[in-house]
Amino acid sequence: MDHQGMTRTEWRDVMDAMEEVAPYYERVNWLITFGLVDRWRKKVAAVAQPDDVVLEIGSGPGNFTRHLVSREVYALEPSGELSAFSKELLDPDRITLLRGVGEKIPLASESVDKVFCSFSFRDFYDRKVAAEEMLRVLREGGEAVIVDMAKPSEGPLAKMLEMHVRHMVPPLTRMAVPSMVRERWARDPYRTFVKTYEAYGSTEVHEDLLKRAGFSDVSTEYLELRGATMTRGKKPWKSTS
Ligand SMILES: C[S@@+](CC[C@H](N)C(=O)[O-])C[C@H]1O[C@@H](n2cnc3c(N)ncnc32)[C@H](O)[C@@H]1O
Repeated sequence: MDHQGMTRTEWRDVMDAMEEVAPYYERVNWLITFGLVDRWRKKVAAVAQPDDVVLEIGSGPGNFTRHLVSREVYALEPSGELSAFSKELLDPDRITLLRGVGEKIPLASESVDKVFCSFSFRDFYDRKVAAEEMLRVLREGGEAVIVDMAKPSEGPLAKMLEMHVRHMVPPLTRMAVPSMVRERWARDPYRTFVKTYEAYGSTEVHEDLLKRAGFSDVSTEYLELRGATMTRGKKPWKSTS
């Protein structure tokens, strides 16, 4: 596992962990982000315009998808078990659930205006290929938006966030998940998430992956309390000259 991705076996392990925690997913997110997770999601979702065609990759239980107000939304998710949680939350007239992975997006080239990865990009097994796929499905001038826990490469904030993920997240998740359920788990699934956080490099890695795939105007902004980042990049217009 490194900043580019992971093996298929490691990926399966991450997916198993995610499916295991699914019923407690949002409660844990709320605790470990001190209640900020949905405020971050709302702010990021506001990047999409009502007239946009939008793709969200790694939509899981739909916690980000439900904030998207655009006329046509595709929610792509590899796990049927996770997307089953989203069925009641989402408006079927506007939102289409798709089964698949970000590395092979089941949509035509140049068919969407915005692509969002909300707390999902670091779980992809091949982020280079996924970034290229995001560029492929975007229309010219369209935008990719990646949001995840902040991970600056150095400085006091980097240290603080690392300490939080390593030492605060495991006990907080134990508070959120009933002990009866935890006893059934063969291992602590949240350990897997600490691993993916540690492996994904830094926030600059997301920027670099987007630039290498061919995105322009790549930039990152910190969200409230600097606990998460939103990295954006545009699909360049083709030159007519
Ligand atoms: C932490 S959840 C995020 C769910 C939701 N977007 C949110 O904001 O809470 C990560 C999601 O990414 C999905 N995922 C993992 N690997 C993926 C891949 N290769 N392609 C697409 N989605 C993937 C997982 O199944 C999971 O639903």
